[in-house]
Amino acid sequence: MTAWSPESWRSKPAKQLPDYPDAQALARVEAELARRPPLVFAGEVKRLKKQLANVAAGQAFLLQGGDCAESFKEFSADNVRDTFRVLLQMAVVMTFASAKPVVKVGRIAGQFAKPRSATTEVIDGVELPSYRGDSINDMAFTAEARVPDPERLIRAYDQSAATLNLLRALASGGYADLHNVHQWTMDFLAGSPAGERYQEYAGRISEALAFMRACGVTPDGAPSLEGVDFFTSHEALHLPFEEALVRMERETGRWFATSGHLSWIGDRTRQPDGAHVEFMRGIENPVGLKCGPTLDPDELIRLIDTLNPRDEAGRLVLYVRMGAEKVANGLQPLVRKVLSEGRNVVWACDPMHGNTHKASNGYKTRHFDKVLAELKTFIEVLRAEGAEPGGVHFEMTGQDVTECVGGAGHLSEADLSSRYHTHCDPRLNADQALEMAFQISDALKPAQGITRAAE
Ligand code: PEP
Ligand code: CO
Repeated sequence: MTAWSPESWRSKPAKQLPDYPDAQALARVEAELARRPPLVFAGEVKRLKKQLANVAAGQAFLLQGGDCAESFKEFSADNVRDTFRVLLQMAVVMTFASAKPVVKVGRIAGQFAKPRSATTEVIDGVELPSYRGDSINDMAFTAEARVPDPERLIRAYDQSAATLNLLRALASGGYADLHNVHQWTMDFLAGSPAGERYQEYAGRISEALAFMRACGVTPDGAPSLEGVDFFTSHEALHLPFEEALVRMERETGRWFATSGHLSWIGDRTRQPDGAHVEFMRGIENPVGLKCGPTLDPDELIRLIDTLNPRDEAGRLVLYVRMGAEKVANGLQPLVRKVLSEGRNVVWACDPMHGNTHKASNGYKTRHFDKVLAELKTFIEVLRAEGAEPGGVHFEMTGQDVTECVGGAGHLSEADLSSRYHTHCDPRLNADQALEMAFQISDALKPAQGITRAAE
């Protein structure tokens, strides 16, 4: 393989990158970003990789979630805190269900650039360039707003830094205390249509926590109860931005992407000879790869060869995103191939991107039941093949939005217009996200009847 450098992707074909009218303005912004401090640090990245190695070994579970697209407009301390809070609530339910530590990763503090299926958008006969995320252009439907502006990258960096600052405080202070987090869930259930269904289960978690407290396992004695490890992630789509934030670790000479702890390659940019794969192969971070229904098993192995040539545990997360109807047939050949080649990967499920449809009133939406169905099939197929379902990846928010239909609140298509705020794909709202965690708890129970003694 040829030598890698932070800019070696530039000699490869790159899809989905914006066409900036002023190349010099972009170069100035890149230079400015290259002088800025890293957003995340090598030590944190290595810690996440270790935790993902545990996931690959079936000893931990990955929970990843956040906005489809972060936006400048929706940015506030409350929004960040609420997303963080729901993720922690889900993690408690999933830890109890799976009897495994849950690795918590936000789709946050950097998730600004979006791949688009069409380069232009037509409304009432007017055709304009597509919106590509707030770090690139503006969602407003005017010719001026849709011109890519490199200064937006600086704003995305600043917002990511402020978001991370808040997340670090929330994760290390008493806010993330396990008893606190579970109390929010109990409060939520008391006033929710989901209450009846999940109260008993949540009550069992309360009992477990009371038992721990009685045994003297309290935040004073076990600091891990008070704080959590929380990591950030986004799609590594905007390669000039990503390159500007690559830093070398002095002691080892290794390169780290410091724009977030984990980043992934999207389903539209995973060409084995393309620029995105080239960029990602050279960084030390854990990397993700979206696996859509068109991914061929041989191509997957080629991608694994490139992205994880040393077969390092915790390096590569495969996000299966096929859709509820396609996942059973689509996933099986991929799992068989990876197992027969003996590759070390984390299998995770993104049950969002294969389950999007247009509601009769024109809103892009997803049905709670389809999302759940894909998750359950994903778990079943992997278990049947003798592989480990390692994680889940949601588009979700801590806000009470109306973007996905279904769930205990029976959100309907007619409700969508009420609080439809997403800048890209529809997200599970706070109640739907937490409900999803309860709904998969049975499926997450450690598989029965599989004896590990022989391993
Ligand atoms: C996404 O995660 O927002 C996304 C665009 O996913 P995919 O590449 O799987 O379509
Ligand atoms: Co999306």
